[in-house]
Amino acid sequence: MGEKRATLGGRLSAVLVAAGSAVGLGNIWRFPYIAGENGGGAFLIIYIACILLLGVPVLLAEFTVGRHTHLNSVGAYRTLSKRWAFLGYNSVISSLLILGFYFVVSGWTLEYFITSLSGSISEYTHSAVNAERFAEFTTNPLRPIVCTVLFALLTHAVIALGVQKGIERSSKLMMPILFVMLIVIAARSIALPFGLEGVEFFLKPDFSKVTAKTFLDAMGQAFFSLSIGLGCMITYSSYFNDKTNLQKTAFNVIALDTLVAVLAGLAIFPAVFSADIEPTSGPSLVFVTLPSIFNTMTFGPFWSALFFLLLILAALTSTISLHEVLTAYLHEERGLSRTKAAWVVTIVTTLLACASSLSLGVWGDFKICGLNLFDSLDFVTANILLPLGGLLTSIFAGWVLDRKILRTEISDHGSMRCRLFGLLVVLLRYVCPALLLWIFLYNLGIFRF
Ligand code: TRP
Repeated sequence: MGEKRATLGGRLSAVLVAAGSAVGLGNIWRFPYIAGENGGGAFLIIYIACILLLGVPVLLAEFTVGRHTHLNSVGAYRTLSKRWAFLGYNSVISSLLILGFYFVVSGWTLEYFITSLSGSISEYTHSAVNAERFAEFTTNPLRPIVCTVLFALLTHAVIALGVQKGIERSSKLMMPILFVMLIVIAARSIALPFGLEGVEFFLKPDFSKVTAKTFLDAMGQAFFSLSIGLGCMITYSSYFNDKTNLQKTAFNVIALDTLVAVLAGLAIFPAVFSADIEPTSGPSLVFVTLPSIFNTMTFGPFWSALFFLLLILAALTSTISLHEVLTAYLHEERGLSRTKAAWVVTIVTTLLACASSLSLGVWGDFKICGLNLFDSLDFVTANILLPLGGLLTSIFAGWVLDRKILRTEISDHGSMRCRLFGLLVVLLRYVCPALLLWIFLYNLGIFRF
């Protein structure tokens, strides 16, 4: 290809861009409700174990594949091994399916932001009423779709600005603000009456709630939250320059992502217990509990608007990364101009997202294995495609990829020491595949001991 490929600026850009992809609705919306459904504290421990044993090696493997080839995910695998190009296609399909529900939830954040700005959020004082309003809104056939389309266009606008001016700049601006905001909200939430009960629920492990599905959920959440398993980090790291320190970047991204998830838990569970609602109430958790916390604060609508604005930004940096996987693929592999590629992606993903939004209301009778379209997109991607992608990525990096390439990239061409390289190889070759396979089979009921 004649044109020069974009690269990111300094070290900080690599961390913030990758963290921008990782930190998103997965941390603030998905993590708390999945943890709530799986008994709180015990889930947190299993989740962190998944991050360390599976997240670290797979993230490093994706960084290696991306930066070594400087190509989109399909091109990257194809260059390294023709037979493994299919793994790149898994990434294209999964990104499309994730955007199919992610745009919908992102649209909800837009609606709640507008409600906060207009001041009418001050009527959202009781969680029971908030729950009703939330249900009324999400099942409405029109309004959530307008929000979804708006959000998709917002994502499109950033992608259209390009890698440096769009993706890099937006992440650098938004990530630090998000972090500070979450700390303030968590502190406020813990101070609520009965708030400490929520902290206890979240931090004190109760293993009696742990089932096989807890492991599957924790693993799926770890992959989803770190944006790994579908080549998103391959696409992003293909824009890293050769000076980017891969080990440090991976460490920082994982630390930031986990911290944001824990802070989100500390913001939400105290509020749940204070308002006496069920911590197991599912995807509505954030939208139902947080408005009541804001209403206990002076200038409630202001805080609420600020929070939902930040949630929009967190979601946006993630939708951008998913969009970029598809845009880079169409542009580099299929020969579409970048502009055309971006439009095709925006239109196809928006149509899917509109269908999945309708599946929460008027199209609710259409079920796939007992789940509506929205829930099945979430389940199939997070609990099946991402871990499967992770399994294959670790097998690829551990067994197929030339060991020299792995070492060169992980050590940044020999300039970084990598004392734990041997451990990484063991994790990639044996531990990740075995653990992932075991969790899968266990959940299928095939392999229980
Ligand atoms: N990690 C993001 C979140 O937590 C979502 C996301 C962005 C993602 N890119 C991804 C998930 C790639 C899986 C794979 O919200």
